[in-house]
Amino acid sequence: MLFEVVSTASMLGVWGASHYFRTNTKDDNDKILKIAENSGLYKNGEKLRLYRRKRERKKKPNYTEYVYKIPLGLELEDFLEKYGKFKDGLNNRSQHRIHLRDFKKLKPDRNIVKQIRKILENRDQLNKNIEMEYDGMLIIRVYDKGLTDDLPYDDELLAKVGGWEVPKGVTMREFIKHDFEKMQMLVVAGMTRYGKTVFLKNSITTLIHNEPDNVKLTLVDLKGGLAFSRFSNCKQVHTVAKNAEESLLALDLIHAEMGQRQALFLSKGWEDIGEAGWKERHFIIVDEGAEIAGFEDKAQRERCTYLLGEIARIGAGLGYRMIFATQYPVADVFPRQVKANTSAALCFKLKNSTQSMVVLDRKGAEALPVGLRGRAIYQTDRDVIVQTPFIKNDFIDTKLTPHITFRARSEKSGASSRGKEEGTGGSYITYFEEA
Ligand SMILES: Nc1ncnc2c1ncn2[C@@H]1O[C@H](COP(=O)(O)OP(=O)(O)O)[C@@H](O)[C@H]1O
Ligand SMILES: [Mg+2]
Repeated sequence: MLFEVVSTASMLGVWGASHYFRTNTKDDNDKILKIAENSGLYKNGEKLRLYRRKRERKKKPNYTEYVYKIPLGLELEDFLEKYGKFKDGLNNRSQHRIHLRDFKKLKPDRNIVKQIRKILENRDQLNKNIEMEYDGMLIIRVYDKGLTDDLPYDDELLAKVGGWEVPKGVTMREFIKHDFEKMQMLVVAGMTRYGKTVFLKNSITTLIHNEPDNVKLTLVDLKGGLAFSRFSNCKQVHTVAKNAEESLLALDLIHAEMGQRQALFLSKGWEDIGEAGWKERHFIIVDEGAEIAGFEDKAQRERCTYLLGEIARIGAGLGYRMIFATQYPVADVFPRQVKANTSAALCFKLKNSTQSMVVLDRKGAEALPVGLRGRAIYQTDRDVIVQTPFIKNDFIDTKLTPHITFRARSEKSGASSRGKEEGTGGSYITYFEEA
């Protein structure tokens, strides 16, 4: 009896798959064309035109790829700005779906007919995900299922990055990482509670784990330093600055050191840190950067903005890396030089399209799903939507254990840098307590 049901079910499954393709892809294409039209994505009467459609069955997850010719005068950005409209439009109904697994759960002692009818009449709310890309034509990939909302940061994930790479997350099709040797400065933006600090902790842990002898960290948390305090005893962490004074002190030291380094490089004829052959990379990681605008002292405010700008402007070639995170990316609190010298951004949900424009130069971050933590737009030379990894504090702690030292006293010295001639270590002297 059960066997019969299962075999009927698998036939239904085969029929279901091809039926699904025939009806859904036609529907989805119609919908895409309609949404484009309703969103004003046409030009001089010219509309989006389907060029090719392909169902990808072999790759997991399954998706259908639609390739469109776009009207002259429109570009990918115009479509990306309407991303939310496409996504909602393609998901605006429930769908008749028969799940084979439900047949396996049939209870022979209950009313079988009723149970089977329920399975056959099942409806699922659609949860399709879409990706847009431009490659001479507009490519829209419609995935049957949405992107995961849970990507744990674990050893398996950590093993996927090396050197100066940091895991960024997953898209529907691939694992994405950020290589700080390729893009030295990164802006992180997003409303509060969407994952900025978690991402910074993910980056710090990764860098300490993968480059323990070469990474040097200056951590600036302008909202009190709580999130970074667990890193403060790592030997790679030079400073944890928690307020305006401490931040300025740290940044001024870096600035002075940077100037000396520049002079040295010039005198030696080295073009950049690569040519110098130095392994050290000094990361300046700023959380809650917009707090600078709230510094009471105007001189401090301006100095801090200036110093961050200078690091962003000339630091890359000299071995400095920066991650600048902020909750309020409004033009007047966002250091202009930081923005101008940054080629990558990780942008969680933002309040409005104006903020999105400041970070990404386009609208769209305001349309990321409400309440979906860790979902972000990662912008480099292309934009992808990622789910960022969620790193737990106890995982961080196990990775940090080998690097903890008890620093009794640390004396910073911008002038006498023991690392400078050797190209390793840092520009500070640390006294350790006897173990
Ligand atoms: N990548 C993620 N995946 C799932 N949940 C996350 C992720 N990042 C953050 N969260 C959740 O959101 C909360 C707030 O994240 P947090 O990084 O502190 O936000 P922010 O710094 O942007 O205010 C975290 O405590 C965690 O519960
Ligand atoms: Mg935070």
